[in-house]
Amino acid sequence: MGESIFDPSRNKRKVLIKNRNILQTTYIPDQLPHRENEINNIVDIITPSLSKNKPSNILIMGKTGTGKTAVVNYIGKELKKADPEEENCSFIYVNCEIVDNPYGILFNISNQIINNQDNKIPFTGWSLDRVYETIIEHFDKKNKVFIIVLDEIDRILQKNGDEIFYFLTTMNEVLKESRISIIGVTNNAKFMDLLSPRIKSRLGEEKVVFPPYNPVQLQDILKKRAELAFGPGVMDEGVVPYCAAISAQDSGDARKALDLLRISADIAERNGDSSITEAHVIFARNRIELDAVIEVIKTLPVQSKIVLRSIIKNHEEKDSSVITGDVYSVYKEICNILNYSTLKEKRIADLISELDMLGIIHARVKSFGRNGRTREIELNINKDIIDFVKKDELFEPLLKYKLGKQMKLL
Ligand SMILES: Nc1ncnc2c1ncn2[C@@H]1O[C@H](COP(=O)(O)OP(=O)(O)OP(=O)(O)O)[C@@H](O)[C@H]1O
Ligand SMILES: [Mg+2]
Repeated sequence: MGESIFDPSRNKRKVLIKNRNILQTTYIPDQLPHRENEINNIVDIITPSLSKNKPSNILIMGKTGTGKTAVVNYIGKELKKADPEEENCSFIYVNCEIVDNPYGILFNISNQIINNQDNKIPFTGWSLDRVYETIIEHFDKKNKVFIIVLDEIDRILQKNGDEIFYFLTTMNEVLKESRISIIGVTNNAKFMDLLSPRIKSRLGEEKVVFPPYNPVQLQDILKKRAELAFGPGVMDEGVVPYCAAISAQDSGDARKALDLLRISADIAERNGDSSITEAHVIFARNRIELDAVIEVIKTLPVQSKIVLRSIIKNHEEKDSSVITGDVYSVYKEICNILNYSTLKEKRIADLISELDMLGIIHARVKSFGRNGRTREIELNINKDIIDFVKKDELFEPLLKYKLGKQMKLL
């Protein structure tokens, strides 16, 4: 074998992660500690399906990372164990983040119930009514209960209104032999308020709320995963409690806690360190935060980016504190160079407030003058992020401009 540029990295690395798959968020664990109540609750509601009776529809609610998707998939697996031939009930899972239009959802459901290739509904082209009727026909042929999970159900509503819910929740009135039951899953606390009263009462016949995890619960979850993912003795004792404490403080989100653990382990491996320590967790957390801020900045509207660029410019040029008026002058100049129309100063003040709310800057009221409030503006992002903003292709003309003419302010 010849030499390769991968050699140094490969030679340096010590394998700490024995089974990387276990730390991925797509992995479904066999046990879900601290969701026993929620699982039992749902199991009680859907048990009638095992004797071909229609269970109530359920709406599962809870913040992101509280185990909703993991729990419904786990229950689906267990249901299949209880009825291996699917004689009495079938479990159908649809992720509405991926399919969010009525046709797509019905198509996805049909694909899971129609086995014969010749009878499949085409990917596009049929009328919605035809799809609907065909599905009803196939449901009825099977003479059983179908439990249909619509995960991230709020996505449908955002893009396509609530027509599909009407379709699905009234299907039982048309079905003769079979029954369907809907489990909606959402992390949007306002989802119920957005539904029409008729659909609200149908979808939410039963509600199950998943509370965020506390630090002790997160520790248990992480510990179980870590045991499976890492070889013995590669992780310091403090790592799991530290990851759990940070994540519980932020949100009680198990996904974030697992991400933190995985990234910490990655950093340790890449460094060629022989164990994962709290120092790696601190590193990982900083990197996650950095990525999150960069994500926010990437999606800022152009005018906000220009305001942010003006604030940065002011901070680079001035020793004294930067106030709203300074930002506005530079803002106007940059707009000119980039050929963007300038907004009024009042509007820029709003954009400054928005940047403040996003945590990218701090804007403190300094005085109330004739022209409204003056605010003192500080940057709340580090040098790496400032460089990232400056390198945005939006600002490329600024570089060229600087080479040509001598700018007044820039
Ligand atoms: N009790 C638990 N035990 C073990 N792992 C868990 C537990 N709860 C959640 N997880 C893990 O945490 C991650 C996030 O969980 P999950 O995807 O189920 O969250 P969610 O509530 O569906 O969030 P979202 O609303 O963002 O979809 C997954 O990797 C999941 O396996
Ligand atoms: Mg989910």
